[in-house]
Amino acid sequence: MREPSAIVAQVLKLVGASIRPGVTTGQLDRIAEDFIRSCGGVPVFKGYGYELDNLFPATLCVSVDNEVVHGIPGMRILKDGEIVSIDVGVKKNGFVGDGAYTFAVGRVSADKERLMRITQESLAKAIEQAVEGNKVGDIGYAVQTHVEEAGYSVVRELCGHGVGRDLHEAPNVPNYGRRNSGMKLTEGMTIAIEPMVNLGTHKVRTAQDGWTVLTYDGAPSAHFEHTVVVRKEKAEILTK
Ligand code: CO
Repeated sequence: MREPSAIVAQVLKLVGASIRPGVTTGQLDRIAEDFIRSCGGVPVFKGYGYELDNLFPATLCVSVDNEVVHGIPGMRILKDGEIVSIDVGVKKNGFVGDGAYTFAVGRVSADKERLMRITQESLAKAIEQAVEGNKVGDIGYAVQTHVEEAGYSVVRELCGHGVGRDLHEAPNVPNYGRRNSGMKLTEGMTIAIEPMVNLGTHKVRTAQDGWTVLTYDGAPSAHFEHTVVVRKEKAEILTK
């Protein structure tokens, strides 16, 4: 899992360096897929899904502003002032790494800057809880508390997840919860923690394309994700 996760981190860095006003989301997807394949990896989101007539068609999920997650890259041209979540999963050696990062396109408002910062901080606080003896609820509690104290809301319909041979494994890792609740964390467990934080209502809806998750009120949303290994003292971040 170290190898696919390191590729994930490199993809996010590479794609991030290409983000500027005027670039299309489809161009970013192409850059990501070419790089992953050059590393001997496979993009795991491509062809993923349960409805066989609507499998996810791309390497990246690219979600702009009011798009929370699972945006499909294509002809959309990024504009100054937007924020864009880039999510990528890579399989290599039979194992998966999964990570996401939200980038600013050009100069963005102070509101969006703060939304991104609080979301990234909530992921860091969640990772601090990913140690042996804690429970999954401690992770959700850490995210929810930080986000709600800042005046924002956490998405409930989508969760982090166990990750390993498959992209999605047990347990679910919600971004809300109560302390000392849920599955016990033990050393060596590998989980993807991914807070999705909305500036307005926590409610979301799915777009006509069957994939893109949108905020219900149209306000912006941010998303950060790391694949981590639960350890005794301090979780190890594989997608750093
Ligand atoms: Co994930």
